[in-house]
Amino acid sequence: MPSFKLDGKPIPFEPGESIIQAAYKQGIEIPHYCWHPGLSAPANCRMCLVEIAPAPGQRPLMLDILAWDAHAGAYKPVQKPKLLPACQMGAVDGMEVKAESSEHVHAARKTVQESLLLNHPVDCPICDQAGECKLQDYWLLYQKTPKRMRDEPVHKPKGVVFGPTIVYDAERCVMCTRCIRFMEEVAKDPVLDMRERGNLNEITVAPGRVLDGKYTFMTEHVCPVGALTTVDFRFKARVWFLRTAPSVCQGCATGCNAHLDYDPRNNRVYRYRPRDNEQVNHYWMCDDGMVSYRRAHEERTLEVLVSGRLGSHAAALEIVKKLFEGVARESVAVVFSAQHSLEDNWALRELGAVLLGANRTYVSGLGLGYEDKILIHKDKNPNTQGVKELAPEAGSFSDLLADVTAGRVTHVVALGGATPTSEPKDLATLQTLRALVTLASHEGPLAEAAHVVFPVTSWAEASGTYVNAKGIRQQADAAIAPLGSARPAWEVLAQVAKALGFEPNWPKLREIRAKLSGSSAVTAAGPPRARTDASSPAGAP
Ligand code: SF4
Ligand code: SF4
Ligand code: FES
Repeated sequence: MPSFKLDGKPIPFEPGESIIQAAYKQGIEIPHYCWHPGLSAPANCRMCLVEIAPAPGQRPLMLDILAWDAHAGAYKPVQKPKLLPACQMGAVDGMEVKAESSEHVHAARKTVQESLLLNHPVDCPICDQAGECKLQDYWLLYQKTPKRMRDEPVHKPKGVVFGPTIVYDAERCVMCTRCIRFMEEVAKDPVLDMRERGNLNEITVAPGRVLDGKYTFMTEHVCPVGALTTVDFRFKARVWFLRTAPSVCQGCATGCNAHLDYDPRNNRVYRYRPRDNEQVNHYWMCDDGMVSYRRAHEERTLEVLVSGRLGSHAAALEIVKKLFEGVARESVAVVFSAQHSLEDNWALRELGAVLLGANRTYVSGLGLGYEDKILIHKDKNPNTQGVKELAPEAGSFSDLLADVTAGRVTHVVALGGATPTSEPKDLATLQTLRALVTLASHEGPLAEAAHVVFPVTSWAEASGTYVNAKGIRQQADAAIAPLGSARPAWEVLAQVAKALGFEPNWPKLREIRAKLSGSSAVTAAGPPRARTDASSPAGAP
């Protein structure tokens, strides 16, 4: 593999890669604003300038400049190496690049910073980006000087509503054009553009349009500063109070990798940010996915319900014991959930098929919905594929309804409240069951019709594995502590097994993981990368 040297360190690269790209793949960040690994490179911010040593026999590229001579009290003509943008310079085998080790590069970074901050408002105390802003980070690293300009800065529009989800502040904008390029190149909706020149530049929405569609949150995500903010997160939290957990979006079968940011002080989830994974979602998430973090707190089942009334775990387990006493195994069924993790479904399979001897299995979950060719999958469940792998023979939800109607199934243990449809007649059919015990994190017909509901943890409260539509196993870690009386479903299933007189063989999560085929439930993340997204992981040093 060809390689070049960056500050003396060998950097391998694929032909066609730029210097910044090859360094990024090795986990080295060359400072930048306009470059993003998922977008084209306009080289307009000049923050990534590097010094490239001339190849043997080549003349060095030099620039004539005027340097201040303090001794003489005058400017004098000197020469300095001409620096080049690492985001546009293709890597060449054997080339020598200086970045951190070059005084000229440091001086250039400082000057670019000073220029960008010339008219920048002192908004940090009220800016949502504060704490994860590239202007702040690079000021600390490369500038550290107070403002020298004494004139009134140029004022530009603030709080411009670009659409239902995004607000723009032109004074904070560094004109990197990432937002324009994202909408054009990834969302395929070139609704943003730049107008005016020089320090009057601003980003604008196409006449007659608003910034809307399925991927507007990503404009805020790629913005390296606080110029674009989402209506959803604006003024909700200071990022230095947030912690983050690696997660997997539950919005559809694509299974986009995400950072789930939460505040441990009030045990609340505040937002999602995409987590880079070239095999799954590259650097992006859709809008529906970005707001689906709210499901950690919305429409939850948080307390034990017995016949619709609040009950205790112990009382509910007694009722389950009575409901299942002396029932013929032919009438017992289990319903897996494409909304729940592999571990939860595995424990249900053990309880139903192995311990209870139920030979009727079904799968439920949400129905199909919108899809596109960018990210969004029509299957709105995160683990349809995982359930298919665990229980390939499981019938559909309509098969369950047919068997209940025909009286072939009378006793059911179900995971998850969700069903593909929520017709009143389906609910009425479920209500004819002699026993329906549902373990649910969220409301839904299977919870509504249940004789006993056990509240179980959502993906935000317990570690779980999900298999996406491509068959990639991904692990979502717990962020917040369990809400209400919720416990992980696999744990509640072990209690149910004990109440029914069985000895469950899954006392711990690690035992389930060891038993799951190919036991290693891994996050399909790529190799370590430098951080290139707009924001640092919340809670990171
Ligand atoms: S709004 Fe943000 S992403 Fe768009 S050009 Fe300005 S700084 Fe860049
Ligand atoms: S495409 Fe699907 S998995 Fe990805 S962010 Fe959107 S809803 Fe979530
Ligand atoms: S990152 Fe290279 S010029 Fe902006």
